[in-house]
Amino acid sequence: MTESVTIDLDGPEATVELGRRLAPLLRSGDLVVLTGELGAGKTTLTRGIGEGLGVRGPITSPTFVIARRHPSLAAGPALLHVDAYRVGSPAEIDDLDLGVDDAVTVVEWGAGCVEHLSDDRLDIVLAPGRSDDGRSAVIHAIGSRWQGCGLSSLVGA
Ligand SMILES: Nc1ncnc2c1ncn2[C@@H]1O[C@H](COP(=O)(O)OP(=O)(O)O)[C@@H](O)[C@H]1O
Ligand SMILES: [Mg+2]
Repeated sequence: MTESVTIDLDGPEATVELGRRLAPLLRSGDLVVLTGELGAGKTTLTRGIGEGLGVRGPITSPTFVIARRHPSLAAGPALLHVDAYRVGSPAEIDDLDLGVDDAVTVVEWGAGCVEHLSDDRLDIVLAPGRSDDGRSAVIHAIGSRWQGCGLSSLVGA
């Protein structure tokens, strides 16, 4: 079952804020897959998720490493931030032995490579928005994990 919500993001701060508001819904073992062109706001959204989870930063584009683990500064889950741009296949992801079970895993460029890691996931698609310089985010909640989780509370609040 899939539930989808669309959110307008009228500037970078709105993208960060969406991440902050998403964070309390996330727990260890969750998978979030971010899709969107270069500059769409994937890392910005990840930064907000990291802030909301209260993990050690800074969260930057992991250009020279494929994955970076940000431990919690409190008792919450770690954030595993993955850039799968140069990963060619699900088998390559498995070879990396990322350790997704004990972290919230957020993957940039993950579509087509990481879906096998979990039965449930959030697919978030970032695209140019209605305003000249904004973005829109479409969140697809996939699997029973997300049934009735209150995703729609993210819209417009
Ligand atoms: N909602 C938004 N509206 C306008 N600019 C945004 C928005 N969200 C992020 N940005 C900006 O877009 C640029 C690229 O963001 P980034 O997160 O690095 O993209 P990606 O990781 O998808 O390549 C940054 O300068 C960021 O501040
Ligand atoms: Mg990025």
